[in-house]
Amino acid sequence: MKKIGVLTSGGDSQGMNSAIRSIVRTGIASGFEMIGIKRGYKGLMEKDFIPLGSKDVGDILYRGGTFLQSARSEEFKTDEGQMRGVNNLKEAGIDYLVVIGGDGSYRGAAKLNEKGIKTYGLPGTIDNDIPLTDYTIGFDTTLNVVTEAIGNLRDTMSSHERVSVIEVMGRNCGDIALHAGIASGVDAILVPDLPWDITDISEKLKAGFERGKTHNIVIVAEGVGKAEHISSLIKEYSGLDTRPTVLGHIQRGGTPSAFDRVFTSRMGHKVIELVEKDIYGVALGMEKNEITYHSFEEIFEAKDVLNKHLYKIFEDLI
Ligand code: ADP
Ligand code: F6P
Repeated sequence: MKKIGVLTSGGDSQGMNSAIRSIVRTGIASGFEMIGIKRGYKGLMEKDFIPLGSKDVGDILYRGGTFLQSARSEEFKTDEGQMRGVNNLKEAGIDYLVVIGGDGSYRGAAKLNEKGIKTYGLPGTIDNDIPLTDYTIGFDTTLNVVTEAIGNLRDTMSSHERVSVIEVMGRNCGDIALHAGIASGVDAILVPDLPWDITDISEKLKAGFERGKTHNIVIVAEGVGKAEHISSLIKEYSGLDTRPTVLGHIQRGGTPSAFDRVFTSRMGHKVIELVEKDIYGVALGMEKNEITYHSFEEIFEAKDVLNKHLYKIFEDLI
């Protein structure tokens, strides 16, 4: 009987549990033996393996986080660390490995694939910064969390006629800022890929108050800079009362959205289909509502770029 290992790596994201559940249940239905690897590549190097039955993945579909837990490991970036992982997998008779994680985790997965383990990637990151997939696991849930938080901030900012400067996650990617900004009808969105001008922003915010607005919201992708700094710049240039807020890790929690649950259920199902066909060394994603896959090399060569048309839509709506 073929054995399939699954692990979650890097920053966790809502929907990882749902992905594990789908991989495990579809795998068992197809006659495979399923093994969970705890704490990402750390657990792989330490042989922290647990057998997974259908019941073991019950009651996790709607939970944020990852019950297999996640970790980052410098040691795994070395050839020696990777070989330790490969040997542990071979010793346990695990032929296939599914890695749920972001770009860094994909790099590790590609190394394992080169070293003889048939490996798959599922895009587990809230950042939506993986090329060749329209969505990453947790991105949609995070947008809902951020949108709700902005709504709360709007209430208090209105009462005090203030400017709220909100920093969101995303590493070097501006997708969380752009999508949540549009969903919240904010007044300015600062993303790493596009230039911004403090005088211009300050003038626009002042004009907003002059038109009778009671609040102004500025959303800042963390790749641009700190909310505290941008908030004080706006205060200095506009004279308006500003308050910085860093949403932080709140964005990575919460029950996964229906979209993330369905998306991950579909990808989990597909990865087992690929195991059955003995297609490997690939990462899955969703393009135009189809579950697709590409080799790790293709993913590394492709560039994840900001959707400039979407930014234009935002500009036309303010
Ligand atoms: P994410 O997967 O969310 O992008 P990281 O960039 O922290 O998160 O990567 C997760 C883990 O993947 C790292 O801690 C490391 O163990 C492994 N990893 C990252 N980059 C590489 C690499 N170039 N080669 C091998 N393993 C890597
Ligand atoms: O990649 C996911 C992410 O949440 C980024 O948006 C953020 O920059 C980073 O991870 C935070 O990492 P940590 O969990 O180590 O604080």
